[in-house]
Amino acid sequence: MTPGIKPLIAGNWKMNGFRNSLKELQAMGEGYDLVMRNRLDMLLCMPATLIYTAALSAVGSHVQIGAQDCHMNAVGAHTGDISAMMVADCGGSAVIVGHSERRTDHGESNETVLSKAEAALRNELMTIVCIGETEDQRKSGETLKVLEDQLSNSVPNDFGEGKLVVAYEPVWAIGTGMVPTVEQIAEVHNFIRDHLVGRFGDSGQAIRLLYGGSVKPSNAVELMAIANVDGALVGGASLKADDFLGICAAYGTLED
Ligand code: 13P
Repeated sequence: MTPGIKPLIAGNWKMNGFRNSLKELQAMGEGYDLVMRNRLDMLLCMPATLIYTAALSAVGSHVQIGAQDCHMNAVGAHTGDISAMMVADCGGSAVIVGHSERRTDHGESNETVLSKAEAALRNELMTIVCIGETEDQRKSGETLKVLEDQLSNSVPNDFGEGKLVVAYEPVWAIGTGMVPTVEQIAEVHNFIRDHLVGRFGDSGQAIRLLYGGSVKPSNAVELMAIANVDGALVGGASLKADDFLGICAAYGTLED
């Protein structure tokens, strides 16, 4: 946690979810009561096919709906892509850019991620820029160097208040059940905070830093208590309302 920052618990459904999965979203909205709303922001990043319906079904629940990627252009001949403008048009208020699965599966470079983030911010979307090292990079002691490169080259310079979020997702912790130690996460999140404060001053201090990679209800309390961890980016455990709300409940435990 960072004093003065309202945490964000964001779910990333990846390529999962059909129309009938929206009952889980509904249950999340029902569980996201006033007490929880005062403690944290809740966001679900859906597959493109569900953004519009999810945004409609989330009206009144205070749950925000987002996308998992966007193109850097607003419109044009880009078969299969969706733009930030289209996400906003569907009722989305946020987008993830630079997830390691996009960087790997689609060869996205830091420069591509930066252009996508800029497009998202132009459309007033909350923009979650993902960074993270591979297992080999960690083993060879390159973690901070890799992260510095990703931060310097994929995090945009201009952003509105509350609109930029940075998510640290070590590639080796995604979907594996392996989680870095508290010390490892603390080291990285302090490093990210120092970079952002060095670059943006007070605005860098206010940027939310999420941890992602095998976050579950059983480890959420320990992870969310780490300094400069201002929430989570959750994959598998965001698909079921019970699990996702269990992670959100970590904040009740921390504050009580
Ligand atoms: P898991 O929570 O399934 O490890 O996924 C993390 C992730 O990639 C979220 O973007």
